[in-house]
Parts: sequence; C-alpha cells; structure tokens
Amino acid sequence: MTKIAVITGSVRPNSVGGPVAQWVAEKANTVAGVQAEVLELAAFNLPVFAEELPPMAAPAKDPAAVKWNETLAAYDAYVFVTPEYNHSVPGALKNAIDFITPSVLANKAVGLVGYSFSAGHRPIEALRLILSNFTTGVVGPQVNLHLATDFENMSSFAPAAFHDSEVPAMVEAIVAQDQALAALR
Ligand SMILES: Cc1cc2nc3c(=O)[nH]c(=O)nc-3n(C[C@H](O)[C@H](O)[C@H](O)COP(=O)(O)O)c2cc1C
Repeated sequence: MTKIAVITGSVRPNSVGGPVAQWVAEKANTVAGVQAEVLELAAFNLPVFAEELPPMAAPAKDPAAVKWNETLAAYDAYVFVTPEYNHSVPGALKNAIDFITPSVLANKAVGLVGYSFSAGHRPIEALRLILSNFTTGVVGPQVNLHLATDFENMSSFAPAAFHDSEVPAMVEAIVAQDQALAALR
C-alpha cells in the first residue's frame, strides 16, 4: 500500500486549489494499492520559519512544525498541488517545505500538480529545484492545469476531460518509485 498525502499549496481561505486537491486524491485512489488523502496546508497554521537551527541540523521545535513533520512522516509519498504566485510557488508552501526535516522526505516519492495562467509550469519547475535539496524521488509525469480552460470563470474547477488519465499516470509512477525506494528507508 502506498499512502499518499495530497498537499494544498495555497493557504487562502477561498483558494481554488481545494477542489483540485480533492480531484487528485479521488483519481489517485482509483490506482491499485493507493490510499490518498488531502492535507490542507492552512490547517497547520505554520508560522514564518524562524528556528534557531536549520532543519538539516536539528528538527524544527515550533509545535506547529512538529505536528507538520509528524503528519508528513506517516506517508510514503506526497503530491504537492501548487498555484503560481509571482512565477513561483506561494511563499506559504516554500515556508512549509523549509520546515521539513530532511529524513521525513528521504527516499519518498513525490508528484507535482500546478495551476495558473501558464498552467502551473513555473511553480512545478520551482518545486523540482527546491526538492532537489532533499533525497526524494520526484516523478516525471505531472499535471498542468490552466486557469482559463480548466476552471469556469477562472475560479470553479472544471478540468478538461483529457486530464482525467493524467493523475493515475502520475500516481502509477509514484507507486513504482515508492516500491523502489522502500528498501532505502
Ligand atoms: C500573490 C499572487 C501572485 C500571482 N502570480 C501569478 C503569476 O505569476 N502567474 C500566474 O499565472 N498567476 C498568478 N497569480 C494568479 C493565481 O495563479 C490565481 O489567483 C490562483 O487562483 C491562485 O491560487 P489559489 O486560489 O489556490 O490561491 C497570482 C496570484 C496571487 C495571489
């Protein structure tokens, strides 16, 4: 069984990303051997990172960060669902990743879903760079959603039909990566 956390990258109360994450989890759960659920980043109420030591030297001590790391540690794999803010990921998502203890993500599989007026390509590329500082298996298949064509009035999620097969394809790659990396954990 590959337990996947689908993590929302926006903490805005009216983020359009909630339904995207639910859709990703629903499609992921159609793949054999997968148990996927949504983690709302906003629910963790993470402060701005201001720890005495970097997480590679010592796990973050802030109670919200301890809960964040403990929650993440219970999963085999992750899918980050990110909007594009100023050609990159939202500061809140980068901040949340800054809090992660490297061993929590070590040899885990990761998938990426992006949405914006450039179909989330730039925040996904940014995430690939950020995550390269962790020893993770970020899979190649990804899902790019466009605010003009996959959302009605740029707000209500209504994905084009061709996206339906993309989440299972990405999740199958995540499962293969998880099975290969499990021996290293
Ligand atoms: C601070 C900020 C910066 C943004 N920058 C970009 C951008 O660079 N490119 C883009 O295509 N959309 C950009 N947008 C539009 C967002 O992609 C769009 O508002 C999206 O719905 C935000 O995701 P959310 O609703 O999950 O927060 C930006 C939105 C915000 C709030």
